[in-house]
Amino acid sequence: MIRYSDELIEDIKSSNDIVDTIGQYVSLKRKGRNFFGLCPFHKEKSPSFSVSPDKQIFHCFGCGVGGNVIHFISKIENLDFRNTIEFLAERSGIELPKTENEQFNQRQILKDKVYKVNEEAAKFYHENLYKPTSKSAQEYVKQRKLNNATLKSFLIGYAGTNNELYKHLKTKGFADEEILASSLVNKNSRNQFFDRFTNRLIIPILDVRGKVIAFGGRVLDKSLPKYINSPENIVYSKGRNLFGLNVAKKGDLKKVVIVEGYMDAISLYQRGITNVVASLGTALTEAQGRLLRKYAEQIIISYDSDGAGQAATLRGLEILKSLGCDVRILQMEGAKDPDEYVIKYGTGRFNLLIDNAISLVEFKIKVLKKKYDLENTNDRIKFLQEIANILESDVDSQIELEIYIDKISNEYGISKEAIYAEINKNKYVASNKEQEKVIRPKTLEKKKDTLDETTLKKENVIIYLLLNYTEEAKEKIKTYIDIADLKYETNKIIIEKIYDLLNKNESLNNIIDYFDDEEVINHLSMILADDYEIGDVNKCIDDMINSYNKERLVSRKSEIVRLMSEENLTKDEAASLGKELTEIINKLANLK
Ligand code: CTP
Ligand code: MN
Repeated sequence: MIRYSDELIEDIKSSNDIVDTIGQYVSLKRKGRNFFGLCPFHKEKSPSFSVSPDKQIFHCFGCGVGGNVIHFISKIENLDFRNTIEFLAERSGIELPKTENEQFNQRQILKDKVYKVNEEAAKFYHENLYKPTSKSAQEYVKQRKLNNATLKSFLIGYAGTNNELYKHLKTKGFADEEILASSLVNKNSRNQFFDRFTNRLIIPILDVRGKVIAFGGRVLDKSLPKYINSPENIVYSKGRNLFGLNVAKKGDLKKVVIVEGYMDAISLYQRGITNVVASLGTALTEAQGRLLRKYAEQIIISYDSDGAGQAATLRGLEILKSLGCDVRILQMEGAKDPDEYVIKYGTGRFNLLIDNAISLVEFKIKVLKKKYDLENTNDRIKFLQEIANILESDVDSQIELEIYIDKISNEYGISKEAIYAEINKNKYVASNKEQEKVIRPKTLEKKKDTLDETTLKKENVIIYLLLNYTEEAKEKIKTYIDIADLKYETNKIIIEKIYDLLNKNESLNNIIDYFDDEEVINHLSMILADDYEIGDVNKCIDDMINSYNKERLVSRKSEIVRLMSEENLTKDEAASLGKELTEIINKLANLK
């Protein structure tokens, strides 16, 4: 039996407006932005059943049921998912494919159209950059020191205002369905079309074959978000592509440098370092690793020098290593990213960094060294122990091992004999399993499942803010409130998805579509349908963050008290717990 594609289902949903569809079952009256009526799923005398045209969802404040148009029809007609889709397709006059083959062909045709839309859009944006009305963008590229040849090779462009792209694509004869499928334009509930990118520098993303698959848009000033990117769609899957590979593969790719940002790749390319690709903002994925492995013998990771960049470096390393790649890490000082570095110090110096890129083992040891004060004897011992662990797990051959030990001994002033002894000691311990002292993780107190109304309300408000407020508000919440801070399981599931979509720069508009658990759908429809009185949003968020900070401190405090009462605590451990406890008590006092 044929499985209907996601695009088709999306198409069916948007062809069956929720107010219109539900209106055939329930008499609805407009009240403000929403519609109300008597709930068809439970008996009631006054209307608590609401339908939102903006969000395309329904929710009953009486019985708690809710969802999108598919959920509604499924419930009221008592149909399973497939039959609901067929029912709605018929209702809106959409012809369903009968076989996988037919669906596949329809999909291929749409894909080809989207490639054409993208190509036309890239051309439009690029030409737009040179128009007299694009002064601000021209100044911006000058300020970024991008020359004309670079603008041409990367088809860099500018998106203005007034939905010019949509209008242009229409003059080229593309159908709305094709334009929407490219994600370059969105449609609102009143059937108006809006360009995704306005007043941004446009960087097209091409796949290895040179087809335009997506776009990145950068602001011209300091406002946020800095970048907006195409979401994943019928032709774009972010974790499977590398920016710049289509250009880089034309040259020598024995060694390839991988950077975080488009601008880093473009800037290095312009200055003669053409063996460079960008991982599109995320940590490297396995698919990207495999793609790279096809072209390059050695991969040099050159991520930003900040904490996030270094963490991404470690993750990327592990992935590439597990794929059997020869990986090196480029060490950069005096600049936050490759773009800044090469502008400041030039191509020659950057090439030197490439030549001096270090191996996985050396990188891990460097990261380790930052943790310890090598003047301190205790620290030196621990450092040595951890080095031995790294050498044991990451070095495969004896020759390599000897080279590393030589290097480490020279660099950190630790005798070779000591390092060998430590490695041998590890081996000895491992072979005497029964003597090994097993240290078990101390289990945390189990969190209670019972909920009070205030906590629940607070968590609902967090989700409400994430769905309805500015990018800054979302970013702040995401940074300071952990999924683990929440108590209500359903809310955790929802927030996890929201954070995930925010990380991928994807829209939260159709958030309800990502779930299939009825409890989650009902709960989320309630939050979507509700109007919370927030007042001062910034203050509300700050208060929330403070209260979670406090909760975390209080819970760590009781954990410490419990740990301190344990037997066989060493003096050192007791001292450090005591110190932490004092700090927590001070912090808590300051919070009040
Ligand atoms: N990124 C993103 N969305 C953001 C921020 C970053 O998608 N809000 C991605 C982009 O692909 C960007 C990369 O992460 O190229 C690296 O981000 P960052 O280091 O912040 O940007 P830079 O490359 O330094 O960009 P610029 O030099 O233009 O400031
Ligand atoms: Mn930068």
